[in-house]
Amino acid sequence: MARYPEDLDRWRRAGRIAAEARELGLRRVVPGARRRDVAEAIEARIRDAGAEPAFPANLSRNNEAAHYTPSPDDEAVFVEGDLVKVDVGAHLDGAIADTADTVEVGGSRRWENLVRAAREGLREGIAHVRPGAPVDEVSRAVASAIRARGLKPISDLTGHSIERYLLHAGKAVPNVPGASAATFEEGEVVAIEPFATNGEGRIANGPFGNIARFRRDPGPSDPGVAELFARFRTLPFAVRWVARPEEQAALRRARRVLQTYPVFLERGHGFVAQAEHTVLVGPSGAEVLSALPASALA
Ligand code: CO
Repeated sequence: MARYPEDLDRWRRAGRIAAEARELGLRRVVPGARRRDVAEAIEARIRDAGAEPAFPANLSRNNEAAHYTPSPDDEAVFVEGDLVKVDVGAHLDGAIADTADTVEVGGSRRWENLVRAAREGLREGIAHVRPGAPVDEVSRAVASAIRARGLKPISDLTGHSIERYLLHAGKAVPNVPGASAATFEEGEVVAIEPFATNGEGRIANGPFGNIARFRRDPGPSDPGVAELFARFRTLPFAVRWVARPEEQAALRRARRVLQTYPVFLERGHGFVAQAEHTVLVGPSGAEVLSALPASALA
């Protein structure tokens, strides 16, 4: 039996908001732009649209595959030739959309093959989503599109099913075949996210990426910690968002119930491109929730 979210319209609106914030981010990633300003502009766009960021705007560069968001005092700027993944999440009452694309700063097109590989992997993968279809068919389509351009999919980063307030729910959508025995179910919400690289095709943990998440409800015993949990629930948040000294102190007291995220680096120091959409498994195939409306593409 199909199990659609009962507030499907909310998931669609979150998808639209995430798409618009992603496009704003892609436009703002230009030479000389401060990374922190771009992240904050993306997050402000989400809030202005009436949603909340589902995770901090990720602006990973070059051989960073994922999970870098600017720190509170990050003054670094984008430079010509940077390959930047703009990975954005928005949620409305826990209805989450997760979407990404890659832009080359300054437009020299040196990494165009890499960017196209990730986008084609995404398109081919989405084309294989339908109720009852093996997840492995999507993985195979993603990997072959990337390999057709002489590049590698990153095998240890995966797409994922999404549930209310749960960015990474139970089901993984690998970017290489042979890694999943699952099938898609009608009504599921799934993020498909190919990563293409000219490196090894695996990741290694780098330094702290300024992102954390509550593993569980810390309970009411520490009011400052409880207040932080009420704000972020179990979704990833940026250290940047915890600005007041008393909040920062509460964050330090909460460290035992926090998961912190390292930046994911390409193991062979390869450059990485990513493309991602959140889709709904509809009756006959994928409905892309994080696409821009046709009017915005004209
Ligand atoms: Co994702």
